[in-house]
Amino acid sequence: MNTLEVIGRKRDGGEHSPDEIEFLLSGYLRGDIPDYQMAAWLMAICIRGMTRAETLALTRAMVASGEVLDLSAIEGIKVDKHSTGGVGDKVTLIAAPLAAACGVKVPKLSGRALAHTGGTLDKLESVPGLTVDLEPERFIRQVREVGIAVAAQSPHMVPADKLLYALRDVTATVPSMPLIASSVMSKKIAAGADAIVLDVKFGRGAFMSDLASAIDLASEMVQIGEGAGRRTVALVTAMDNPLGRSVGNALEVQEALNTLAGKGDEELLQVSLVVAREMCWLAEVNSDPDDALRSGAGLDTFLRMLAAQGGRVGEGLPVAPVQLTVPSSAGGYVESIDALEVGLVGLELGVGRKKKEDRVDHAAGIVIEAPVGARVEAGAPLAVIHARSEELAQSVVRRLTKAWRLGANEVKRPPHVLARVDKDGVSKAD
Ligand code: URA
Repeated sequence: MNTLEVIGRKRDGGEHSPDEIEFLLSGYLRGDIPDYQMAAWLMAICIRGMTRAETLALTRAMVASGEVLDLSAIEGIKVDKHSTGGVGDKVTLIAAPLAAACGVKVPKLSGRALAHTGGTLDKLESVPGLTVDLEPERFIRQVREVGIAVAAQSPHMVPADKLLYALRDVTATVPSMPLIASSVMSKKIAAGADAIVLDVKFGRGAFMSDLASAIDLASEMVQIGEGAGRRTVALVTAMDNPLGRSVGNALEVQEALNTLAGKGDEELLQVSLVVAREMCWLAEVNSDPDDALRSGAGLDTFLRMLAAQGGRVGEGLPVAPVQLTVPSSAGGYVESIDALEVGLVGLELGVGRKKKEDRVDHAAGIVIEAPVGARVEAGAPLAVIHARSEELAQSVVRRLTKAWRLGANEVKRPPHVLARVDKDGVSKAD
């Protein structure tokens, strides 16, 4: 087989055989196919798409590129959760401990920041001492003892995704339905849980721009999961505005702690509870995540998880040396906050990576002072920028301010969870 011929077939809108997909992936993994050729193929997929058969073949080839975790030593139905990525999306840090506090076993393998969206691993690593590199024995022991572990997938699991994920992140080839579906589902299948809750985001800050394509992606992933013998439910949720009040690594861990302590943003809490309830339902656990929130059991489980992974929350989370308040130039009601712009400003500040080898700044980010629906006066704060230098903070003020749209009329926050997809089909929220 010839690499140029295979790339050319996708460029021209043709369909790959499973063998061609396997040829490209294994060649890339061995180092025989260089980044630039793989990047050209990824871009061709972004533009031309893939059939369901191709997406399935790509998912299978990704799973087969590495090891599959054996979780049989953990009793009960194990439930994993995954988001397709958003801005300010710290739902995992809230929903997963709540579900675990209800008795669900949550072995969760997470990813890093991707393009303008945050990554759970980068967030967790902002806790001093915390490691996300857990050997399988330690990971399994922690799930048995604490009910939850959140770790990086081992380099031996789905190595093809690890390489592709990093390459896509820096070649503008993230927003593609088959690439997202195969990336997410290959990891979920290899991670070994019995059931999976997916949070498929759409809108300005997500990789899917509209509800219809998010439902398509959700349906595709549910089919792949069920086809691999994993009960799979997907929630389709809005990501036009950042979720909650903060965007950043340490800032989002702090917000998750606050939310679990009952002092969080209402929308963030509600979507986290919906996700946690789905996790309980799939695990056939009858306890209610609301009770775990009220009793403090969810917070306790999160703190025990952080400690089990070496985290020393008591030492405090990293704080940026510069905190610059961004005032509103006019008065009005906040109609929307452009999540993509906020995510891109976050990227400028160092919340994510612009190049593969960049290091994230754990303290950097944005705290939203005027959320959607709030009334602001001219001169009142819209947000606070957390940055490593005054110069960097000043350089993003204009861009950040432009993310806010103000209007004269009162604003009702739009619904957040728009649809639910399972093997029986799609149900839409009213
Ligand atoms: N999350 C993933 O794991 N992969 C993607 O491609 C996008 C979001």
